[in-house]
Parts: sequence; C-alpha cells; structure tokens
Amino acid sequence: MADDFTVTPWEVSGDIDYGLLMERFGTAPVDDALLRRIGRHGEIHPMLRRGVFYTHRDMGWLLDEYEKGNRFVLYTGRGPSGQTHLGHMMPWIFNKWVQDVFDVPMLFQMTDDEKFLFKDLTLRDTKSLAYQNALDFVALGFDPAKTRIILDTENISTLYPIALKVAKKVTFSTAKAVFGFDNSTNIGSIFFTTIQAAPAFLPSEQQGRQVPCLIPCGIDQDPHFRVARDAAPGLGYPKPVMLYCKMFPGLGGGDKMSSTDEMGTIYTTDGPKDVKKKVGRAFTGGRVSVEEQRRCGGNPDVCAVHKYNYCLFESDDSKLSETADRCRKGEILCGECKSILTDRINAFLESHQEKREKARDVIDGMAFDGFEWVKG
Ligand code: TRP
Repeated sequence: MADDFTVTPWEVSGDIDYGLLMERFGTAPVDDALLRRIGRHGEIHPMLRRGVFYTHRDMGWLLDEYEKGNRFVLYTGRGPSGQTHLGHMMPWIFNKWVQDVFDVPMLFQMTDDEKFLFKDLTLRDTKSLAYQNALDFVALGFDPAKTRIILDTENISTLYPIALKVAKKVTFSTAKAVFGFDNSTNIGSIFFTTIQAAPAFLPSEQQGRQVPCLIPCGIDQDPHFRVARDAAPGLGYPKPVMLYCKMFPGLGGGDKMSSTDEMGTIYTTDGPKDVKKKVGRAFTGGRVSVEEQRRCGGNPDVCAVHKYNYCLFESDDSKLSETADRCRKGEILCGECKSILTDRINAFLESHQEKREKARDVIDGMAFDGFEWVKG
C-alpha cells in the first residue's frame, strides 16, 4: 500500500513515499527554477542536484531577503540518544556547505532534554552523548567564529523566555493533533516542541529585528516546525524557512539508518573491520546466483550500496549512472560494489576520525555562552 508509512520526529517506519509525504505535509518541491537560483551563489551541492534535499518551505523568500543583503542564520540540531552514525552526518555535511556558500552564522541545538523525556536515558547520559555527537559536528569544519552549539539544559535561560512565548500560542489540542500525544504522554514531551522552536527565533530576539532563519534537516522534523511557523507571525518573528532531506537509508535496506539495527548502521567511530563486515552484509539488488545476475542483471534502485553512493560517496554523476547501468546489464556484481564502497567509507572515516580528535581543541569555544561540556 502506497500510504502505509509513518514519518514523525519519533518514528520513521514503512516504505516511505516521499512525493506523497510532501503532499501530506504541504511542502514545496525543490524545482529547477529554485536550483538555478541557488546556483547563482555557488556550485549546487550534489544532495540538492540529486533530490536528497528535495522539498522546502519559503526558500524563495529567504533568497529574496539574502539578495537584498538581509543575511539569514542557519540552524539545525541533534537529539543525543546514541553515538553518531552516517545518517546523522548527511544533513550536517549539507549545512556546512550552506555555511560556506552563503557565509552565514550557524546555531546547532543539542536536545539533551528531549532525549531524556522521550527515551529511557538519564540526563547525565544525554549530556555526555551530546559531547560525543558534537565532536562529529565540529569535525566537519564549521567556522568556529560563526558557529555556536546550544545544549538545552545548559542554555535554558536563553531559550526559556522564547519557548514561553511560543508555548502561549500552542494549544494542547494542536500538540495532540500534530504529534499524536494522548493522556498517557508525559507533560514534558508536550512542552518540548517550544524548546526546539526557540533557536529559530533567537537571532531575531537578540537583534531586535526580523532575522531570517534557514533550517536544513530531515523531513521527519517538519511537525515541530509547522507548529513554530504557525506561532511566528503572532510573536513578531519571521517564519523559519525549511529545507528538507530524505532519510538516510540503513544498510539492511530499511528507509532510515537507525541504531536499532546495529549491523545496518555505520558509526563515525567504526574501524575498517566493522565497516567491511557491515557493508559485506548490506542489502543489494543482486540475484540469487552469480549466473543469474550475469544473465538478468541487478537492480540498483533498491540497492543500499547504490543509495550510499548516491547520497554521500560518489559525487560524479556520470560515474554513478555508469555503475548503475553496468549493474543492470550484469557487468558488475555486488561483491565488487561492496568492496569499492567499503574502501570509500573507510577513507572517509579515517580522515573524519582525525578531525574528530582535533575537534576536542576547539569545541569549548563553540559552546553557546561558554557552558561546560560533560566529557565523560
Ligand atoms: N529533534 C531533533 C532530533 O531528535 C533534534 C533537533 C533540535 C533538530 N533542533 C533541531 C533537528 C533543528 C533538526 C533541526 O534529532
């Protein structure tokens, strides 16, 4: 069934129809005209060109303002519930590109409160995971002078007045309808969305004027920002502008990489042997036997290895489609593709892990208002 899937901030399941999801959420497609417009500012990122970032809210307005000299602030975030994996990194890599191309400040929110409320974790757990996750974010090279990391329980005195203003505009009935809460939901969870809205309005609050905010993130976060956008005009804030990506697939063939499937998940701290093992077991579009695959060809459209190249590991369009063609003709077998991808992931991780170590030296300076990380 085409509509048999769920995408919410807390659950992604089923076979996602991204076109239908865009319709359900009422977001606009990233079309050629928008791509051309973005392309005037810098070379289009492959994730945009290939439709990984595929839908948006108000990008046209954001660019109008930018072109008039009204710079936006970038904002994205992470709920620290476990170690960082490649699925988390994908939108962050894109955010780094936006920071570079548009030369804008960046806010990164770490919702240790959210993961305490929604998961079976202590506040100490989520706080120390926040540090581990933030190292990966910092390692991507965000400009330390222009980037600040907000840790909710540490920066709450800054967020709280804004969250309160948002809270006053959102009814319980809206929260129930948007997030599916019921009478058994803990009351912290019901309030939480206002905390996620707050960083989007923080620059406007600080500067006492309407500062545009762009939030590139996974489409699963749209429910939060629908609520935030509805509240914005009544509070004198501009509506946050959204640019959404598809979920990064799991190696096991699922629609979203998730720590609940350890073998289908590549963590940023994985070593070459882990990667080899995990990619070796990846779900592909291969046939039951070598002979049959040589004869009938494979199916790259369902192949996790192909999706990884598509999203992250092959930026050359012609090479990507050449490999897919050779797969369909049975000229290249899954083992070969897996071994190429293994090498690529390992090369990426080797360099990332070095940068992650160096991130320890600059991360303190990126803490919003200079809070102290829990590093243990
Ligand atoms: N709720 C997000 C998560 O669970 C974390 C988050 C906070 C976020 N602020 C954000 C994600 C802004 C995207 C954009 O991962």
